[in-house]
Amino acid sequence: MDKLVIEGGKKLHGEVPVSGAKNAALPLIAATLLAPGVHILHNVPDLRDTRTMLKLMGQLGVQSRWDGAVVTVDTTHLHHGEAPYELVKTMRASVLVLGPLAARLGAARVSLPGGCAIGARPIELHIKGLEQLGARCCLENGYVDVTTTKRLQGAEICLTVPSVTATENLVMAAVLAEGTTVLKNAAKEPEITNLVDMLLGMGAHIEGRESDVLTVHGVSRLRPADCRIIPDRIEAGTYLLAIAATGGEGRITHCNPGHLAALLEKLRATGLVIEESEDSVTIKQPAAAKGLRSVDITTRPYPGYPTDLQAQFMALMTLANEESTIKETIFENRFMHVPELQRLGAMIRIEGNTAFVTGTTGLAGAKVMATDLRASSSLVIAGLAARGRTEISRIYHLERGYEYLVEKFSGLGAVIWKEKE
Ligand code: UD1
Repeated sequence: MDKLVIEGGKKLHGEVPVSGAKNAALPLIAATLLAPGVHILHNVPDLRDTRTMLKLMGQLGVQSRWDGAVVTVDTTHLHHGEAPYELVKTMRASVLVLGPLAARLGAARVSLPGGCAIGARPIELHIKGLEQLGARCCLENGYVDVTTTKRLQGAEICLTVPSVTATENLVMAAVLAEGTTVLKNAAKEPEITNLVDMLLGMGAHIEGRESDVLTVHGVSRLRPADCRIIPDRIEAGTYLLAIAATGGEGRITHCNPGHLAALLEKLRATGLVIEESEDSVTIKQPAAAKGLRSVDITTRPYPGYPTDLQAQFMALMTLANEESTIKETIFENRFMHVPELQRLGAMIRIEGNTAFVTGTTGLAGAKVMATDLRASSSLVIAGLAARGRTEISRIYHLERGYEYLVEKFSGLGAVIWKEKE
């Protein structure tokens, strides 16, 4: 196992390009199951999760090939298969094959994901929605088995919570169903819009793009896709927060600033100067260095402040001038980074779903442990800002979601490397 070593306390400077979004690449890869033929996906990040998804596709007879950031997916020889526990436990997003397989083959078998580091994360909304579309779902031996005797039937489905992957699964199932499906209280994250655009390009009929009501008029077949993955807004946000935390200045390129609006508003509130262009964001220190203002955040579904940038913002707030209140409303156990940040000298108190962060004048390096993907990136940010050496173990979490992390931070002037534990 590798660990990440950081010699902190250096101000980050320069430019960093953003990769394609992991959370868009995963559903888009799954969506290729909907049409036989050769699909081309551009701007695919080379990550452990995208590799896992393609491995899962391989178990279903799907062939894929990487050529830089372009992935060719050939679904011509799709056959029945299952998403086994060994894969699903490493990546919950494996459940994204349920909808497309139910629609195309009338059968899908996926292991239940079980609990994960950030909460229970059930999938009952996926299952209930598929049942409303006419599928039979059966839970047995830790697997969910979805079967259909005939084509899925359009239905009106109202999600009790705007779940991102449930929305994606159900839209993918509905595009090949007979009749019209109305999906209410749908999530509207940019990654869903990316999926909707891909499906439209494949010949699907979907109304309500970017809204919380998606109306899908089913079609009998779709054509292969040629589609581009959107920039990773969480990766972009992570680099902005890292630059800010080290007191540096820099520019994030190849991103979509519109997708980062909630974060940029909070960064401006801390006193940092943020400039946006069509595809880049520049971050600068205020003219008179007054220190960072403490700012509160509450995580919300898009366009609210993203839960996937909560831990990283907390890392920044450990260095602000007063007390900041960080409220997590999406996941019930997403403060795993707090005890690790405390090891670096952060002053944080948790009450229920709220963390109260009192800024300190500086953090000091320590040995810490990565617990989940975004918690790990908050430790990287804190380690970069801290004086001295920070060692982060269990970095396989980071490799699930950050492409060329060491290279990108090194490019910004960080002293950071991987080492065998
Ligand atoms: C996706 C993202 C993840 C992000 C999350 C919230 C992917 C691959 N992952 O995860 O990075 O943190 O959105 O933005 O895109 N829920 C239920 N029942 C269900 C499904 C969800 O109660 O059947 C609840 C969850 O427990 C959670 C909330 O809904 O409290 C939101 O979760 P959801 O949007 O489903 O997250 P994911 O799609 O798993």
